[in-house]
Amino acid sequence: MNNITETIKRRYNRTAFFYDWMDFMISDSTRRKVLGMAKGKVLEVGVGTGKNLPLYPPECEVTGIDFSSEMLKRAMERVKKNNLKITLLEMDAQHMDFPDNTFDTVVATCVFCSVPDPIKGLKEVKRVCKPTGQIILLEHVRSENPVLGKIMDILNPITLAVIGSNINRETVQNVSRAGLAIQEVKNLGSTKILKLIIASPNDLEEITHK
Ligand SMILES: C[S@@+](CC[C@H](N)C(=O)[O-])C[C@H]1O[C@@H](n2cnc3c(N)ncnc32)[C@H](O)[C@@H]1O
Repeated sequence: MNNITETIKRRYNRTAFFYDWMDFMISDSTRRKVLGMAKGKVLEVGVGTGKNLPLYPPECEVTGIDFSSEMLKRAMERVKKNNLKITLLEMDAQHMDFPDNTFDTVVATCVFCSVPDPIKGLKEVKRVCKPTGQIILLEHVRSENPVLGKIMDILNPITLAVIGSNINRETVQNVSRAGLAIQEVKNLGSTKILKLIIASPNDLEEITHK
């Protein structure tokens, strides 16, 4: 692991103690609605304290990864408390151990704001997702409003140092840069900061015509 990855991992190990108390970005009802789209063999990248885990449709076979052992510890407690059958693994999203084309659905909620090299992480998502699979991302991004965007740029070093999260990432563009095919981008809320991004690992047209 490189130095930046180690630093962000350490920040999340520290943030784990107050993460659930601090996190107010996504309501449980929004999480449940989004996770309702997951099917089959599911990978959740950056599970954190496991807030999503009790909300998956029961027929999904879920594996969750995170590089922070302290966040994972809390996710494991949640899995036990809710009596869930979910596999949790300590793993870096930038270098996943899974073979190509493993998962039907890959999910990440508020993760690609912190993955040190988001393009590398998203390329890994593309690799491990089956060609006909779906990628579901719920991410906060840099505001399109020029003034708010600038304020986010100014505040970003603080959130990065305290929590480990960037508030000015352009994740929709990063998804395209990683070679994923965006199917839908939906704004959740009037600020247009929280976005639901649905993507596929390949252009589906391309697969159909091959
Ligand atoms: C803001 S938290 C979101 C947690 C959870 N997804 C949620 O919605 O509550 C970001 C999570 O991504 C994890 N993360 C960041 N970079 C990662 C990486 N390269 N590999 C694995 N996990 C990563 C952090 O450890 C942290 O648990």
